Amino acid sequence: MAEQKIQIMGAGAIGCLFGAMVQLAGYDVVFVGRGEQLKALQNTGLQITGLINTKLEVVATDKPVDADITIVSVKSYDTENAAQLLSRVDCGITFTIQNGIGNLEILSMYLDTVVGGVTTYGANLVKPGTVNFAGEGITYAGNDGFVSREAEAVVKVLVDSGMNCQAVDNISSRIWSKAIVNAAINPLTAICRVRNGSVVEINELWEIAEAIIEEGENLMKKMGIRISQNLRDLVREVAIKTAKNKSSMLQDIERGRRTEVDFINGKIAELAEKHGVDARVNRLIANLVKGVEKSHGFI
Ligand code: PAF
Repeated sequence: MAEQKIQIMGAGAIGCLFGAMVQLAGYDVVFVGRGEQLKALQNTGLQITGLINTKLEVVATDKPVDADITIVSVKSYDTENAAQLLSRVDCGITFTIQNGIGNLEILSMYLDTVVGGVTTYGANLVKPGTVNFAGEGITYAGNDGFVSREAEAVVKVLVDSGMNCQAVDNISSRIWSKAIVNAAINPLTAICRVRNGSVVEINELWEIAEAIIEEGENLMKKMGIRISQNLRDLVREVAIKTAKNKSSMLQDIERGRRTEVDFINGKIAELAEKHGVDARVNRLIANLVKGVEKSHGFI
């Protein structure tokens, strides 16, 4: 197994967590990153804190290399650029664990073997080179209608690395469920500057969250994407389980960075307009987050 090379395209918090777990299991791992994070990985290595405590020497670079499996963990607004860079090397099986809607489709435009994915593992960047492993979750890998050999190869690597991972044949349904969780929790926490728990604790916020979920469900139905669980219950459960956490969107806003709202509420609103579904609350929420990003010069 150690002969396989695993590439992490996007050495942020979640990418580094996956890369560290896989490297600890004996796989050959290369991290592709940029900026301060890349410098820290190259100069001082990768420190993981939280659920595990370990320091690793890592191979880190700013350009993709040939690999057997490439795990894509860049922010959704960088997917197209990442896909173009990856198309210039032999990046093997590409497996996306990104947030948001549309990443699988963008990657598939440039690359041959793309496996969809979704993860509930929690990680956040403490400082460049240091990642907090905040919560154990589960990762699903697969496509729609079939379980490919490639998805099974990805699952094997992650399971060998001690991670919970399952191959599935309904990845769109799972990607959409996670996107709706993100659509209901992330922008409300980012706009109001509150932790996840507030979305269920403050009635006025829960009222908005319910409208976001309902619009998302209507769109899923119209697009023929199976709703495999009660999404209201799911959002409530995630908000309660992660009550003390700051959502990734709130963290982006606090750090003065662009958010992924265009690929979450923005994408729901865009697709809803195309399919003739009412998604005015998602549009309004996406516009408010864009207002924060633009007025503070984040984009
Ligand atoms: O993006 C996030 O922050 C997370 O996906 C979630 C589940 C909303 C919890 O913080």
